[in-house]
Amino acid sequence: MTRNYVVTGSASGIGAATVELLKERGAKVIGVDIHNADVNADLSTSLGRKEAVSRVIDLSAGKIDGIIACAGLAHPIAKTVSVNFFGVTEFLDALLPTLSKSSAPRVSITSSMASLMPNSPELVDAMLAKNEVGAVAIAQGLVDKGDAEASLIYGSTKRAIGRWIRRECIKQEWAGAGIPLNAVGPGIVETHMVADMIATAEARAAIDKMVPMPLNHYLKARQVAYLLVWLASEENTHTTGQTIYIDGGSDAALRGDNIWA
Ligand SMILES: NC(=O)c1ccc[n+]([C@@H]2O[C@H](COP(=O)([O-])OP(=O)(O)OC[C@H]3O[C@@H](n4cnc5c(N)ncnc54)[C@H](O)[C@@H]3O)[C@@H](O)[C@H]2O)c1
Repeated sequence: MTRNYVVTGSASGIGAATVELLKERGAKVIGVDIHNADVNADLSTSLGRKEAVSRVIDLSAGKIDGIIACAGLAHPIAKTVSVNFFGVTEFLDALLPTLSKSSAPRVSITSSMASLMPNSPELVDAMLAKNEVGAVAIAQGLVDKGDAEASLIYGSTKRAIGRWIRRECIKQEWAGAGIPLNAVGPGIVETHMVADMIATAEARAAIDKMVPMPLNHYLKARQVAYLLVWLASEENTHTTGQTIYIDGGSDAALRGDNIWA
């Protein structure tokens, strides 16, 4: 039977590649993005998320089998918290009752290998406490302190996503409804988001030091889409709560072989 998917961040990069792959495989897809999408909505605000949810439910006629959340910002600004964490978690929570009606409901999220990078524990805790106003204020405080502190924001949003899925996935609302809930953690993917970061040999050398990718170097968006789509497919029955790093080996290179200590 045809599966119905919702993909956020559908206008560009990993989200656009995911939409393309799903359609090639015969799925129906509703794309959500701030522009150029089936549902144009701003996921950085509570109102925008509510509008997106209501339009998605209308367009899907209440039949949603999978949600793949790719919308994100990498800027070291407070808004990144609203898009990368609350734009994912509040959106998913609101669609959960509809998704739960599917016979094979699935969710996958685009996190990042940056979830392994230094972060602000205070900011991560505020996100996990669902305190958007507080989290945005903490992030703005980091911005005000300067570039080094502001650079913690992106990794903090991705660390919070990784922890959120582990907390949520085993609950009755998710596991009890038969919903695997996972994330992928890409290394550097050649999309609009990182174009400037890999534009020159000097910039690439700096990025390669921070994110070493000994296996096949940078990714294409399509390669991330394959994993997102598998995690959100009927074939995935038991993988849940995982951030699966698709990173050319950067996790292994940076963290080494003993991550269970
Ligand atoms: N490119 C990389 O190297 C890389 C690496 C790891 C993780 N990621 C993650 O992958 C995801 C997709 O990024 P990408 O590389 O495809 O970047 P991209 O910039 O090509 O796509 C991001 C999409 O999110 C949308 N978006 C941003 N703010 C939004 C908002 N307020 N409301 C609705 N939509 C909004 C943008 O319009 C855009 O279409 C992000 O979550 C990003 O953090 C990217």
